[in-house]
Amino acid sequence: MTAAIDIRGLGRTYAVKGKPDFVALRGVDLTVPRGEVHALLGPNGAGKTTLCRILSTVLLPSSGTVTVLGHDVVTEAERVKQCLGVVFGGDRGLYNRLTARQNLNFWAALHGLCRGERGRVDALLERVGLAHRADERVQGFSRGMKQRLHLARGLVSDPGVLILDEPTVGMDPVAARDFRELVGELRADGRTILMTTHDMAEAAELSDRVSFIDDGALALTESPDTVGRVVSSRERVDARGVPEQVRRRLAGLAGVAVVTQREDGVLRIETEHPEATREVMMTIVAAGVTDVSRSRPSLEEVYLHLIGRRGMAVGG
Ligand SMILES: Nc1ncnc2c1ncn2[C@@H]1O[C@H](COP(=O)(O)OP(=O)(O)OP(=O)(O)O)[C@@H](O)[C@H]1O
Ligand SMILES: [Mg+2]
Repeated sequence: MTAAIDIRGLGRTYAVKGKPDFVALRGVDLTVPRGEVHALLGPNGAGKTTLCRILSTVLLPSSGTVTVLGHDVVTEAERVKQCLGVVFGGDRGLYNRLTARQNLNFWAALHGLCRGERGRVDALLERVGLAHRADERVQGFSRGMKQRLHLARGLVSDPGVLILDEPTVGMDPVAARDFRELVGELRADGRTILMTTHDMAEAAELSDRVSFIDDGALALTESPDTVGRVVSSRERVDARGVPEQVRRRLAGLAGVAVVTQREDGVLRIETEHPEATREVMMTIVAAGVTDVSRSRPSLEEVYLHLIGRRGMAVGG
């Protein structure tokens, strides 16, 4: 069976006035089988949106080939558009003076859905949690509500493949959780999803595989378990005003990897697993310290950790 998405040697350059062409993608290879949820992680400017735009046929590749369900994005763009739903964040593409329902009816008509099939629009409004605001103008919507409407828009043609570029940006935690549930349902429908995000925990939770893209090149593809393990195994607790004896006790706790006193007065405790993090937090709070925060490692740290480990595996 043909893959849902097949990317071979994809390159893309942008012409920049007075400068040599800027290389945004360099030789990307990626195959996403049908039914997979694939997350693309990478720092700002890595090339994620460029890749999504090429997949959705609004940007041409400079080199290489890209197919969606076997259809070439350049020579069969119309076919690709028919089987693809695309969700880009932000305000673009929404008609502010129309209501949510009018927006969806408009896109349904664009996709050739006749009035009889418009029951879909109601079902979609329900699915993304906008049914009770369906007849309000979009201009009064919050960012998260607009993001939900974008998602409904992406689903209007009932596509087999969905491209979601930072779908949860601007959503509050409840909306983001609802969204994650929705992705679960879409996967259960058998749809293929390629999504970009900056949130590693989200990528680890939602996807079947996670790829890291850096400076236009695909660096590695991992299982979400591996990414999730690295994220949770590198948690840290920052605290101010921890007494010396508590500090010593923390250093001796099981699962505490490193304790460092930083110049800004913050004591940073890095842990190896979530249970250790909990133990550290409880020890600190029991000592009467109230200035405590917890953080997760940055994308860059996790990425370097994964690359480093893979490097060792190759060497050994
Ligand atoms: N129209 C353009 N002209 C010139 N350079 C561009 C253009 N569009 C994107 N770029 C450059 O290509 C690179 C990749 O951009 P892209 O938007 O694909 O990154 P991204 O991974 O989506 O980043 P972010 O996480 O910030 O959304 C960036 O350095 C960007 O400045
Ligand atoms: Mg982007």
